[in-house]
Amino acid sequence: MPESTILHPLPPDLDAQRLPAHVAVIMDGNGRWAQERGLPRILGHQRGVETLKNLLRYCRDWGIGALTAYAFSTENWGRPRVEVEFLMALFEAVLRRELAEMIAEQVRIRFVGDLQSLPATLQGEIQRAMLATQDHDGIQFTVATNYGGRQEIVRACREIAVRVQSGELAPDAIDEELFARHLYTAESGDPDLLIRTSGEMRVSNFLLWQIAYTEIYVTETLWPDFGPEEFHRALLNYQERQRRFGRLRSSS
Ligand code: FPP
Repeated sequence: MPESTILHPLPPDLDAQRLPAHVAVIMDGNGRWAQERGLPRILGHQRGVETLKNLLRYCRDWGIGALTAYAFSTENWGRPRVEVEFLMALFEAVLRRELAEMIAEQVRIRFVGDLQSLPATLQGEIQRAMLATQDHDGIQFTVATNYGGRQEIVRACREIAVRVQSGELAPDAIDEELFARHLYTAESGDPDLLIRTSGEMRVSNFLLWQIAYTEIYVTETLWPDFGPEEFHRALLNYQERQRRFGRLRSSS
C-alpha cells in the first residue's frame, strides 16, 4: 500500500478540538545534519524534503487545515552559488515528482514570495502546480520561496498606496483587516503555531505581520530529524498553553 493511503490516527493524548488550524515551520538545520554525518550539505536539503512531505501528511491525517513552510528566504541568495542552484533545481524536481500525488490527495499548493526572480523553469512548475490544485479542498500547503516578511509588508503598502492614489480607497479605510488582505496569506490567515527546528531563537524575517499572536515552539532537533514524534510533542506543548491574545485569563 503506498504511504500516502495510510491514515495515521490522532494520538489519544491530543485534543482534536484544540489543534492549531494553521502550522508554520522554519525548517532549519539541514546543512548541519549533513555535516554531522560527513555528507555534503545538499544531502541535508534532500532529506529535509522527505521530512516536509511526511509532516504534510501527518497534518492532513490529524485534521490540521494549513501548513506553511519557509523554503527559501530573500536572504538565502547570499549562500554559495552551487547551493542556491541546487536548491532551485531541488524545488523544481520535487514539484515535478510530487504533483500527481498532491493532486490525488487533494492538496492545495501555493507558493508565496517574490516568485518573479526565480529561474523561469521553476516559475513554470510553480504555476502548473498552483493551477492544477487551486480548486482542491484538502490541506492548504503554502511554500514561502524567495520570501521575506519585510518585503511582503512593503509590497502590501505599495499596493494600498496605488489604490489610494487612484482615489479608489480612502486613507481612513486602511485598517488591519484591509492590510491583511494585501498579504500573501490573505486566504490562509495567521498561523496558530510556528515551529522552528535546530534551536535558534529567531523568526528570521518569516511572516512578521502574521505571527503577532502565534505560539512559538523551538526545538533543538535538526529539520531532517523532525519526525511525527517530535511533531506530536510540539502539539502537546501547544495544547498546554493558554492563548490569551493580549487579554487577561478568563478566570481572572
Ligand atoms: C535550512 O537549513 C533549510 C533550507 C534553506 C531549505 C529548506 C528547503 C526544503 C526542505 C525543500 C522544500 C521544497 C519544496 C518544493 C516543498 P540550513 O541550510 O539553513 O541548515 P543549517 O542551518 O544547518 O546550515
